[in-house]
Amino acid sequence: MCGIVGYIGHREAYPIILKGLKRLEYRGYDSAGIAIYDGNTIKLSKTKGKVEDLEKCVLDEISTNGKLGIGHTRWATHGVPNNVNSHPHYSNSGDLVIIHNGIIENYESLKKELVKRGYSFHSETDTEVLINLIEDVRNNENVKLGKAVQIALNQVVGAYAIAVFDKTKPDEIVVARLGSPLAIGIGDKEFFIASDATPFLEYTKNAIYLEDEEMAVVRLEKGIKIRKIKDDSLVDPYIQELQLNLEQIEKGGYEHFMLKEIYEQPNAILDTFRGRLSVEQAIIKMAGIEDNMKRFLNADRIIIVACGTSWHAGLVAEYIFEDLARIPVEVEYASEFRYRNPVIKENDIVIAISQSGETADTLAAIKLAKSKGAFVFGVCNVVGSSIARATNAGAYTHAGPEIGVASTKAFTTQITVLSLIALRLSRAKGTISSTDYRMHLIELEMIPKKVENALKSDENIKAIAAIYKEASNCLYLGRGYNFPVALEGALKLKEISYIHAEGYPAAEMKHGPIALIDENMPIVVIATKKGHYEKVVSNIQEIKSRKGKIIAIVTEGDETVKSIADHTIEVPETLESLSPLLTTIPLQLLSYYIAVMLGKNVDQPRNLAKSVTVE
Ligand code: AGP
Repeated sequence: MCGIVGYIGHREAYPIILKGLKRLEYRGYDSAGIAIYDGNTIKLSKTKGKVEDLEKCVLDEISTNGKLGIGHTRWATHGVPNNVNSHPHYSNSGDLVIIHNGIIENYESLKKELVKRGYSFHSETDTEVLINLIEDVRNNENVKLGKAVQIALNQVVGAYAIAVFDKTKPDEIVVARLGSPLAIGIGDKEFFIASDATPFLEYTKNAIYLEDEEMAVVRLEKGIKIRKIKDDSLVDPYIQELQLNLEQIEKGGYEHFMLKEIYEQPNAILDTFRGRLSVEQAIIKMAGIEDNMKRFLNADRIIIVACGTSWHAGLVAEYIFEDLARIPVEVEYASEFRYRNPVIKENDIVIAISQSGETADTLAAIKLAKSKGAFVFGVCNVVGSSIARATNAGAYTHAGPEIGVASTKAFTTQITVLSLIALRLSRAKGTISSTDYRMHLIELEMIPKKVENALKSDENIKAIAAIYKEASNCLYLGRGYNFPVALEGALKLKEISYIHAEGYPAAEMKHGPIALIDENMPIVVIATKKGHYEKVVSNIQEIKSRKGKIIAIVTEGDETVKSIADHTIEVPETLESLSPLLTTIPLQLLSYYIAVMLGKNVDQPRNLAKSVTVE
């Protein structure tokens, strides 16, 4: 998720764009850049680091005069954060310049074709391919920029919100969107382009939000023309007057970043498997795995090291890897692993999971594993982070920046990446039939939609939260794949509402925790149809007979559990191995609403940091 800003009008573009980028840093902040048309040519400056770093270097490098410009603050998905990979990007001729938020899935094949036609590339990004594709179309078809963008985008597979301008025609900006947001602010003889309205709200409250597969040519004199990218049909612009304030827009209209990130999960999961999963071709493609396939196939064991929520994702991976790929897995708290002088064999593979990529204990565990000769594979959400750079190979989650301290979309995108890896290895090892393999791919592709459906229980969950918000303790129970989800649900409640909670394997209750159960104890039980459903139902009966208050997460339509539990929250049916992607959703929302009702600081809970870089 990146931030894009553009301006064309009667004012100096530079200060507007720079301030706008600062407003969008919550969308990404590993590198930034700006391009200004100064009346004669394009002056461009970009750098690794935050917008304030850009501000320092711009003052030396480019004249900041000009009434047309674009700017970008990056959250890297392809290519590590550095000056070359940051946006904006020039076309080969230097006439065109682009900024882009999204992922072009077929950029490699497009790039190969452009190289054959003599184009050269300086960065590793998909964006530089797109701007040269646009240039190639403009030159070969001899069309205007708007038409060239349209023709080029019809060759693109992926997600984008782009802004492009041509120094030979500096009275317009061309924008387009698919899967990434883009707003156009309409001022008096001036137009603003941005990922959301925060960069231009102080100048105008009149905005057009492009819909998916729409593009617009924004001309200073002639105004805005919106077209459908596919069939070129004109679209009547719908101008709305914005009521939101700056802070609300940064949070996407949600009260907290945590709730926004819970609701971003359908897109985050989609972005994470985008370009890596093809149901039609029944393939999973992840460079980090393909390049090391032999090593994975010969691995005697996979050791997973992580902390907190990432450790819970690792536990889910243990079930998936052993169940599908038949590879022995051990999951270790990185903080324990690093100090206990573990036995690591040369055929072991270590997988390090970390949202921030900066967790000190996980980094130390990686260094220890490497010192003992292990191959270390990273699953991180921050491109170019310390852990990403310390591992031998890896696969990024594409969750976008996670601002809320309580990890939500990181958890589901980590499970998505780990599921892709386990499925790819199970296919390569032949431990899964082609039918089962295909069934998993089809189901994984449907997960974003099913997460959206799971989110629809929001009101029901809010009502349950109101009943139990004063609880002093809470138990979370799950079996199989959903035992780690029970742990994760308990962690969410603890860390943002400060209510003591414990996750347990449901069958383990009779070995002690059942003594805790009385009419004051809410027990959250994950009782979805797949897995050990009947066993969980009998666990629920045991709780019932001890007057515990049961909040059951059930497969939609389950009347059995509904007749026993005090409350039920439905999630769509899915495969057992993918059920954590759905069952975790109500637990995230339950902890969120309880914490909000208790007046807690949901995004920055007491005593916690987003990234634990200390030991
Ligand atoms: C989870 O909600 C917490 N924020 C915390 O447990 C976190 O998962 C843990 O500190 C690991 O962080 P990482 O994924 O960035 O390594």
